[in-house]
Amino acid sequence: PTNIFSFFWKYRGFYADGVKYTLLLSALGVLFGFLIGLIVALLRLSGVKILKWIAVAYTEVLRGTPMLVQLLIIHFGLASAFDIRFTVLQSGIITLSINSSAYLAEIFRAGIQGVDKGQMEAARSLGMPRGMAMRTIVIPQAIKSVLPAIGNEFVVIIKESSIVSFIGVADLMFQANAVRTLTYSGLYPLVIAAAIYLVMTLILSKLLNVFERRLSAGDNR
Ligand code: ARG
Repeated sequence: PTNIFSFFWKYRGFYADGVKYTLLLSALGVLFGFLIGLIVALLRLSGVKILKWIAVAYTEVLRGTPMLVQLLIIHFGLASAFDIRFTVLQSGIITLSINSSAYLAEIFRAGIQGVDKGQMEAARSLGMPRGMAMRTIVIPQAIKSVLPAIGNEFVVIIKESSIVSFIGVADLMFQANAVRTLTYSGLYPLVIAAAIYLVMTLILSKLLNVFERRLSAGDNR
């Protein structure tokens, strides 16, 4: 093909397959990351020293080491040392989930600590047990206040999920490389991939904005 558009059209099937994997991986990564991250944030704030310690170590290690190294340890390291074997897709999802959970745990911690102390006090003074007050009063407000940051994490994960191509998950990055090798064209396949990542993140940001505005429409504070 002579120009980038006819190039894209000729290989659109590759890119379409890649986008499916990228979106699947990112959505599951953020979903599981959300659940694990919330648990880690609660451990960190539990007031139980050993639990707090485990949570701190978890977030520090996962945020302080490259996600690529984490991916390779999960996919090749565990198989080699403990015979724990995952498919490439499983390893990709696990890596994105735990990596994201560490970032989300910090987001949740900030959100929970940001809820006015009076909320907990009021609930307690009404006779609510601490755990129940946390679950029904504090956490819902915390989650609402950190939704923009969670949306941001989703955007980050869409881009960062490209590293799963390293172990052979057929995501957008992998497909771009496949097209590059197939065509001996060094530029177009990658520029097309970049453009598709950009379109995905722009659309997602737009959707998140609309969603946020809807949510805050009910607040008159
Ligand atoms: N590329 C960086 C790394 O490998 C960033 C990872 C960002 N992850 C996230 N969940 N926000 O560590």
